[in-house]
Amino acid sequence: MSRPDRTEFRSLTGMRDVLWPESARRRALVDVFAAVVEAAGYREVRPPLLEDLGVFLRVGETTDVVTKEMYDFEDKDGSRVALRPELTAGVVRAFVQHSPPVPWKVWYEGANFRHERPQKGRYRSFEQVGVEVLGVDDPDLDVEVIALAWRFYEAIGLRSVRLLLNTLGEHDDRARYTEAVRDHLEAHRGDLSDQALATLARNPLRVLDSKRPQDRAVVESAPVIADVLSAPAAEHFARVREGLEVLGVPYTEAPRLVRGLDYYRRTTFEFAAESLDAAQNAVGGGGRYDGLAEDLGGPPTDGIGLALGVDRILLACDAEGVFGAPEAVLDVYVVDLVGGAAARDLTHELRAAGFSADRRFGGGSMKSQMKSADRSGARWAVLVGDDEVAAGEVTLRDLRGGADQRRVPRDRLTAELAGSQPSETQPSEPEVEPT
Ligand code: HAM
Repeated sequence: MSRPDRTEFRSLTGMRDVLWPESARRRALVDVFAAVVEAAGYREVRPPLLEDLGVFLRVGETTDVVTKEMYDFEDKDGSRVALRPELTAGVVRAFVQHSPPVPWKVWYEGANFRHERPQKGRYRSFEQVGVEVLGVDDPDLDVEVIALAWRFYEAIGLRSVRLLLNTLGEHDDRARYTEAVRDHLEAHRGDLSDQALATLARNPLRVLDSKRPQDRAVVESAPVIADVLSAPAAEHFARVREGLEVLGVPYTEAPRLVRGLDYYRRTTFEFAAESLDAAQNAVGGGGRYDGLAEDLGGPPTDGIGLALGVDRILLACDAEGVFGAPEAVLDVYVVDLVGGAAARDLTHELRAAGFSADRRFGGGSMKSQMKSADRSGARWAVLVGDDEVAAGEVTLRDLRGGADQRRVPRDRLTAELAGSQPSETQPSEPEVEPT
């Protein structure tokens, strides 16, 4: 019988496999984020990847994220569902569904899907870490959320991040501002690019985000929100700025900063990494979304949050030469020179005694096994050869260049290892700042 044709599959456009050690670096990054936010009382939430399409339509029916980029499809029962393009809508849906006591302070990490044009720093599947807080209308909370992100960037060693800060005012302010921007753009239609004109028809505020040189002059002369801001919104914003100043979080006011999602009210912000290309340099963003819980069928509830893009943060780390992948760590590598059950049983015993241990399968020369031992990051190699088995011993070799190699009785091995100077690698505490 002839073999069926074999197709070579590859990951989809804009989606990447993350292999070790990059996977370990991501995990370490999430661990740092979790440590920073859990120390401030945030607890993890894990909403599903797939939601009713309606949940995301509330994110903004006039935004590209929803109208063009969503992975939405009909489920087997005929319902319309979508892979999440972000986590905020799902988290707020969960809040409405479960009615937890407020304030509800949560953090998350995970993948999101947007059918974008892939390029460096812009992918169709990308990961975020983030926080959301439901049920608090206090500008000091805005300060807390922003300061946590700042503390996180500092903790991983990034130095080129800039905080851009704006407010979109209350609901009515935003509506008035949208009209003022629309009037301005309509008055300058002739100077705008075709893309900007198309955006203007759907969502005038998004034109302010245009990076096309042709649109810049019109955008730069557009009205700013301060022109129409109500007194309570102005007061809220003043308190946020004051708090950031007191906490030593530097910011730049960005009066025309608009975000790519529609639910924002009042404080909005973005973090830009100056080490990345301008088109993809947003390494995080967020703001208040005080009407979203209501839009999703819940009681009126204030909300604020942020999400930071893990993929882009790691690109910024590469550019700055910080937060490299952690090294491989292992306590023991078992070198098997006899075959049979000896290596199997020894490895099992070592693991049962709390040591991290790996071994060679299928034998091989001493030289090639020692190479594997080095590559594994092991602190010690334990050699099992004919002589050792006959004498009821093993040979212990320190791979970090410490003591000379020595023979130890097989039944004393774990005690010997435990008695040697403590391994930095054992048992694994998450590394906060790998170098
Ligand atoms: P966002 O600005 O759409 O906001 O995304 C936040 C971050 O995710 C961006 O700053 C960027 O670092 C990263 N990101 C977005 N799209 C991509 C992509 N295609 N490829 C790589 N990275 C990407 C949100 O998602 C809101 N949910 C943030 C929020 C939370 N607002 C309130 N709470």
